[in-house]
Amino acid sequence: MSSNPNPDDGVAKDAAILRDALRRPLHDLRISLLDQCNFRCPYCMPEDEFHEDYEFLGKQQRLSHDEILKIARVAAGIGVSKLRLTGGEPLLDKRIATLVHGLASIPGIDDLALTTNAMLLAPVAKELADAGLHRVTVSLDSLDPDVFRRMSGGRGDLERVLAGIDAAQEAGLAPIKINVVVQRGVNDHTVLDLLEYFRGSQHVVRLIEFMDVGNRNGWRLHQVVPSAQLLEQVQRRWPVRRIDQNYPGEVARRYEYVDGQGELGFISSVTEPFCGACSRARLSADGMLYTCLFANQGTDLRESLRNNADDEELKDILSQIWLQRADRYSELRRPELAEAHVLRKVEMYRIGG
Ligand code: GTP
Ligand code: 5AD
Ligand code: SF4
Ligand code: SF4
Repeated sequence: MSSNPNPDDGVAKDAAILRDALRRPLHDLRISLLDQCNFRCPYCMPEDEFHEDYEFLGKQQRLSHDEILKIARVAAGIGVSKLRLTGGEPLLDKRIATLVHGLASIPGIDDLALTTNAMLLAPVAKELADAGLHRVTVSLDSLDPDVFRRMSGGRGDLERVLAGIDAAQEAGLAPIKINVVVQRGVNDHTVLDLLEYFRGSQHVVRLIEFMDVGNRNGWRLHQVVPSAQLLEQVQRRWPVRRIDQNYPGEVARRYEYVDGQGELGFISSVTEPFCGACSRARLSADGMLYTCLFANQGTDLRESLRNNADDEELKDILSQIWLQRADRYSELRRPELAEAHVLRKVEMYRIGG
């Protein structure tokens, strides 16, 4: 089944709004700061490929903060109002607070979020909030210490991650969302415990179907636990009911516990794709702009920047890219092709999901 909400829903009827070939507006820019990560989640950066000798991007290859700010300003000028900082692991960028300050000051940006594994979050949560970050989303796949260790590639420390979440709450980086990638036979048996732990905490747990991003995560359809199945399990334990989306194009389907213990969500890109309202563009750490998480090609903005393109030129480039966009990979996905890993796709750790 595919959902095709009207891309106009909730959007001001303004003829000047930039729309892609499927009439979807551009709202959201996801910025990957670097391709490195302190975890080695097997579904994203398997250890045997991302070992000591793996060559990550060097400083010169990555966009500078000034270059990122320039792109974000131009993007805000053509409709982007939401920015998300990702990686790899964005907190490995030691000067991130300065960048956050710059991004938060861009007129038109009303949502500035960060996706992190939270290992390095506790000591910087307050500084990030003071710099203008609005909220954080934490990737945390299980509270079972063994499962968590395995799913972080042996690198995660659960206590530190939980301390990071607490620090973010104290700093007011809310609503805090907890992203859980569910893989059959790996962590699906620990999902209810995780939900129980966060019930009543005001944090929003979101259960994500394992996706066939990139070329290296060994995706198999049978490892996907359909959200409908998980919902059934949840319902048996705690009755929940559907609630409205927060904004048009939200990826998660929202539910609330009937007993008032908070909210949870499902992100079901495999069984219930949401391309119909997808308003996201993605900027990789080396300055490639992608218009789909599953893209096999992007546009090199770094080259334009380093050839001294001014704001007007950049605006034209971004606008043209968006106008021509027709991506809807998840709606067209053919599992047998995805399983064969024959489609070249950008890697998740490069564009941050
Ligand atoms: P909110 O702003 O809090 O609603 O979150 P978000 O929509 O920005 O989602 P987040 O960055 O936390 O991503 C959650 C999960 O959804 C990740 O696994 C993403 O890779 C996945 N996701 C986000 N955007 C897309 C998308 O456009 N397509 C697909 N297929 N998956 C997406
Ligand atoms: N399928 C679904 N989600 C994934 N993420 C990383 N790889 C995958 C995958 N193959 C998630 C991370 C993070 C978010 C940005 O994307 O756990 O929470
Ligand atoms: Fe790092 Fe996130 Fe990828 Fe895990 S999913 S390896 S935490 S970027
Ligand atoms: Fe958007 Fe591509 Fe995801 Fe569809 S598959 S929702 S077009 S990023």
